[in-house]
Amino acid sequence: MVGGLVVACQSGPQDVASKNGAGLADTTCSPGMEEPKAAPMAAAMRAMADQAEAMRAWIVSDLSTRPARPAWAKMPFEAQRPTDTTVLVEEFFEKAKAYHEAHRLVGEQPTAQNFDALVARCIACHQSHCPGPLKRINRLMIGS
Ligand code: HEC
Repeated sequence: MVGGLVVACQSGPQDVASKNGAGLADTTCSPGMEEPKAAPMAAAMRAMADQAEAMRAWIVSDLSTRPARPAWAKMPFEAQRPTDTTVLVEEFFEKAKAYHEAHRLVGEQPTAQNFDALVARCIACHQSHCPGPLKRINRLMIGS
């Protein structure tokens, strides 16, 4: 607990250098979020979505031609500054916890079933906190 608080106190508002986030209009939460300077949480989400897409492709790939398993790193996105800080309610953190548990399971057993359970966690949070990227997230479902 104390360690977590120390980290939180050190990560004050950052003046992140402008990063180009153009071309993401259909993936952000709302039109107002198409700012070129992506918030750290949005950047973490992009990495999570890329990672999930790579893992999905791996899971559905033919066993005989299967490449090496893609990276599957835990992304503590809930500790990152979001575009809109009003998302940081208790329910959001509970959903984040459930997501990380599902993410861990996929790492242990990368089955289609575990993967779809993970995507269900993405969807559950996005339905209440960020509906914009739902179309892209729905496409991740393998349908096991
Ligand atoms: C506990 C809630 C929660 C979970 C779980 C979650 N998201 Fe998000 N996601 C958010 C919030 C909030 C934002 C807005 C972040 C911001 O703009 O700072 C976001 C943003 C995004 C974005 C848009 C990023 C951008 O470019 O602005 C994508 C894409 C995304 N999430 C995909 C996913 C995928 C894929 C998963 C599951 C693998 C997932 N999310 C799981 C809450 C969640």
